Amino acid sequence: MSDWFTLRWSEDGVVLLDQRQLPREEVYLTLDSVEEIARAIESLAVRGAPAIGCAAALGLARAACLSAAQDLEALRSDLEAAATRLARTRPTAVNLFWALERMGALAERALAEPHASVESVRGSLVAAAQEILAEDVRVCRAIGQAGLPLVPEGASILTHCNAGALATAGYGTALGVVRAAFEAGRKVRVLADETRPFFQGARLTAWELQRDGIPVTVITDNMAAHLMRRAEIDLVVVGADRIAANGDVANKIGTYGLAVLAREHGIPFYVAAPISTLDLATPCGDAIPIEERGRAEVAEILSQPIVPEGVPVRHPAFDITPARLVTAVVTERGLARAPYALSLAKLSGLSR
Ligand code: MRU
Repeated sequence: MSDWFTLRWSEDGVVLLDQRQLPREEVYLTLDSVEEIARAIESLAVRGAPAIGCAAALGLARAACLSAAQDLEALRSDLEAAATRLARTRPTAVNLFWALERMGALAERALAEPHASVESVRGSLVAAAQEILAEDVRVCRAIGQAGLPLVPEGASILTHCNAGALATAGYGTALGVVRAAFEAGRKVRVLADETRPFFQGARLTAWELQRDGIPVTVITDNMAAHLMRRAEIDLVVVGADRIAANGDVANKIGTYGLAVLAREHGIPFYVAAPISTLDLATPCGDAIPIEERGRAEVAEILSQPIVPEGVPVRHPAFDITPARLVTAVVTERGLARAPYALSLAKLSGLSR
């Protein structure tokens, strides 16, 4: 059992580990209002697609608890306003919208119960949000088991960004595969890309693996090609913010480059993600909205300017890896391989 957690429900608010402060300080924030929760998501205090979904679910539960509504119609309108605010936080991570839809559908059912009251709907939403978190951990463990056969004894595993316990309610997706291999007694080693501009790899992946005693070495993003050429990387495992129906993957900026490099060097490139990250309504990667973030994360490091004032920067936060570069998608229901239009639809249960 870890002695830390990513986020959880409490009667006083949503409690989360402030990831902006890691690895310097372990600070837990207790967020009272929906606005505070939305800002925590926007400012990356909590981040990673499944964790964003969990935070939004807890946010809706919090909205129900804070609502001064005296009747069900007023409560419904407060919940809709909260969902609208939370949906505006980050556009790429589809788990955000998945969680809001799931909570919204649950709210509608609770509101339609024969003896529904403001209190009963609140109780249902708090329980549902906590269940989304518990389920997320179970799903991550299942992803780990599904990915275990892909990790050879002694493997050096390259990962990008943070798709670990910090990006989920616990255990992680890409790092879930690593944890499963480690727990199975395999001597694995992780190479963590630092992940410019926000350094999720250097700060977060390194922090959580070190806490769990899993060997991790940080490299700068531009070292991957050199190490692949020297056969120092056996496989790449990354997470995903959204996977389109054709298998194209949106993930942290820099993922696409790694996939191209992996193909050139004959290294398997795996994407580990829950079924809730599949977006079969979006046909291909070009249709996935890519978040553009502000200047500061690119133009500054630790609040120090590294780009001359007046010189513009670009900051797309995600990129698209075409399905043809993905060796397999690892989900809690097993592996999907090309052709992804068929395998993903089958795994998601849309067709069998
Ligand atoms: O901007 P971030 O830190 O939210 O980006 C996170 C990623 O790109 C992760 O790889 C992805 O959300 C999967 S997390 C299990």
